[in-house]
Amino acid sequence: MSEEVRVREGRSRSLAQALEEHLTEWAERTGIIVEIWALPAQDVPSRVARAVLAALGEALANVERHSRARVVSVAVTFGRAGLRMTVSDNGVGFFGEAEGRGVAAMRAHFEQLGGTLGVNGVPGEGTTVTGVVPRQD
Ligand SMILES: Nc1ncnc2c1ncn2[C@@H]1O[C@H](COP(=O)(O)OP(=O)(O)O)[C@@H](O)[C@H]1O
Ligand SMILES: [Mg+2]
Repeated sequence: MSEEVRVREGRSRSLAQALEEHLTEWAERTGIIVEIWALPAQDVPSRVARAVLAALGEALANVERHSRARVVSVAVTFGRAGLRMTVSDNGVGFFGEAEGRGVAAMRAHFEQLGGTLGVNGVPGEGTTVTGVVPRQD
């Protein structure tokens, strides 16, 4: 099951706050430790924030469902070059390409903003999802 986290319009709640709340709840529910390495310090355009939250929900659903990880590390940064999201778990990883509907949906969220997203599994080591959206202003 994919999860979607919603961010309200009008920036009533920052992406950093939305991420922190979601990650805290998710960690409590799953028992998987979340290490937050970075959260965006600035305001992120709401369409970018929505894409990040949707893709993160898919990435975490995969950690919960497939990884058997104990720890997942999350970093979301927003700077001059654009936004970067990294979700890295210490689970079982996988061989070859990750190409299901969940990965396709995650990738589509980033591509619709001119960005890219990749999923890299290393068997026995874990999985890392990396997405970038170039800054458009
Ligand atoms: N964090 C992860 N740990 C281990 N395997 C993963 C992880 N993320 C993705 N995968 C692998 O990639 C496949 C495709 O993922 P996805 O497109 O989300 O489809 P689904 O979750 O419906 O199987 C998964 O079935 C799994 O084999
Ligand atoms: Mg999935």
